[in-house]
Amino acid sequence: METVETISALRERVRGWRDQHVALVPTMGNLHAGHMSLLAAAQAAAERTIVSVFVNPLQFGPQEDFARYPRTLERDAHALRLAGCDLLFVPAVAEVYPSGEPATRVQVRGLSEALEGRVRPGHFDGVATIVAKLLIMASPDVAVFGEKDFQQLLIVRRLVADLGLPVRILGAPIARDADGVALSSRNQYLSAAERRRAPRLYRTLADIAATLRGAPADEAARAVLEQRGTDALTEAGFRVDYIAIRDAEELCEPRAAGRPLVVLGAAWLGTTRLIDNVRVTP
Ligand code: PAJ
Repeated sequence: METVETISALRERVRGWRDQHVALVPTMGNLHAGHMSLLAAAQAAAERTIVSVFVNPLQFGPQEDFARYPRTLERDAHALRLAGCDLLFVPAVAEVYPSGEPATRVQVRGLSEALEGRVRPGHFDGVATIVAKLLIMASPDVAVFGEKDFQQLLIVRRLVADLGLPVRILGAPIARDADGVALSSRNQYLSAAERRRAPRLYRTLADIAATLRGAPADEAARAVLEQRGTDALTEAGFRVDYIAIRDAEELCEPRAAGRPLVVLGAAWLGTTRLIDNVRVTP
């Protein structure tokens, strides 16, 4: 596996692969089994794989954890090499944003404003901008994103469709610990006591999904389920940002019966913010 730090070197390597299919897995590093499952999906989809590691300042709010976000490049490179990744792209901030804060941003309206976007203003503009840039830099045939960040995945699909970028977006299922907790780089911020409470978020979302699978719920019934979930988590020591039952394709309030739904949640344990979601397959 080769590591490159510049856009020109990245393009040169990709050009050298000529007519082989190329898959990109964008990450912020501190890789865990969830990221590695994305690499496996990329390897199944294309002959050549690139993983990018870039902690993107543009998607962190002023009070967020950009400075303390875990950076573990040596360990990440080792894991990627063992897993057979072809190319690791690790640009510096100045390589990606040479003139400082870019004047040009990519904004996916509508989808970016709900849920995570409401609690983290500007976050998805930062995500959409870096993802568009990475897709233009690497020009892959396929790019893989995790369903763990469900809203992000929908936003990326929409930006690719709206900009007409020639890339196929592949969604990969959520990798979880044995107790159900979705793997996340932020889990390591949890104290031992918080980590013991963490599975409650997944269980709450899974319970709501199971109820919805059992019987369709109208708007009032959904509001009751969301409120009960919020109460259960609050009682268990979480500070809940949202528990929401949404259309799984558009993220809007469910409209017509029979459309796929998803239950999404975001909640704090101490100073750590966890997000998770469970699909409701009818
Ligand atoms: P990061 O949080 O590093 O995640 C990189 C990719 O791994 C994302 O597509 C995310 O959904 C996926 N992922 C994370 N945890 C996962 C899990 N437990 N199971 C399956 N997939 C998982 O998401 C980002 O970085 C950034 O916003 C990025 C897209 C790289 C843009 O900066």
